[in-house]
Amino acid sequence: MASTRPGRSCPRHYRYSPAVFARAADLETQSLYIVGGLYGNPFALEAVLDLARRENATLAFNGDFNWFNVDPAEFEGVNEIVLENVALRGNVETEIAGEDSGAGCGCAYPEWVGDAEVERSNEILGRLRDTASAYPELRRRLSVLPMHLVAEIAGLRVGIAHGDAESLAGWQFSQESLRERPERAEALLAGAAIDVFACTHTCLPVMQDFATPRGTALIVNNGAAGMPNFRDTRFGLATRIASAPSAQALYGARLGAAVVEAVPVRYDHDAWMARFDRVWPAGSPASVSYRRRVASGPGYDVEQALRTSSSTGALPRAA
Ligand SMILES: [Fe+2]
Repeated sequence: MASTRPGRSCPRHYRYSPAVFARAADLETQSLYIVGGLYGNPFALEAVLDLARRENATLAFNGDFNWFNVDPAEFEGVNEIVLENVALRGNVETEIAGEDSGAGCGCAYPEWVGDAEVERSNEILGRLRDTASAYPELRRRLSVLPMHLVAEIAGLRVGIAHGDAESLAGWQFSQESLRERPERAEALLAGAAIDVFACTHTCLPVMQDFATPRGTALIVNNGAAGMPNFRDTRFGLATRIASAPSAQALYGARLGAAVVEAVPVRYDHDAWMARFDRVWPAGSPASVSYRRRVASGPGYDVEQALRTSSSTGALPRAA
């Protein structure tokens, strides 16, 4: 039974059926960047805007573009820019847009995440909620963002959400669950009738293929656009889907007439560290939980993220 403790629960209004993705596409584009987990990093935001501008691509922010941006000016700046683009809400936007429902950060953290970390996330969310309270119009705009989207790119049907195919804060498309319970993910994909499912939320990237009634399907989780995702690295990651490959891609796979790639978000690391330390000094909840990762990445490697069989044609890694 689901826990009801703040930060552990998955509120009922976070849920939807995988069948909601079996609909006509909401948007059709030639090139799409899906940017999850910006976490309020304004330098990463600049970097993704630049990536998209260079190839006239569409940007879709699939939630948690807020997190570390508790400074009022930065809260306003990040949201004003993101909301000029296609955007979905994550648990963070949902929680700061609504009244305090007791869900804490709404992360629905699984058991492998410790209580102290969950408590710190609830404290960060509390700080962000205080900041957001001065911006009722932005909160209103966040509250009406959709939870899911269907895009069509080069004939591929792409489902986009923050968590997984049945919850805004679901962990079933985390790298851990995809390794341990791939059959569950496969069933969710089959019910969604899509070729690619792009998600984020669980903080570590993964790209894994599955056999579905439609043929090979991919789950691609970008980890975080606003934080490093691999050991000893200093860049975020976005998911790119297009008809032609990008020279910037770190890894990717071909699927039908499209490529699905993980593209580095190379932001100004030193500027971001200085900003992070100013807003979240040593001992603060964000510093304790995230500073090591922000500085040099998690204990996770590219080889662990890329899990596609040869049938989808892995692309060579960029030098
Ligand atoms: Fe999230």
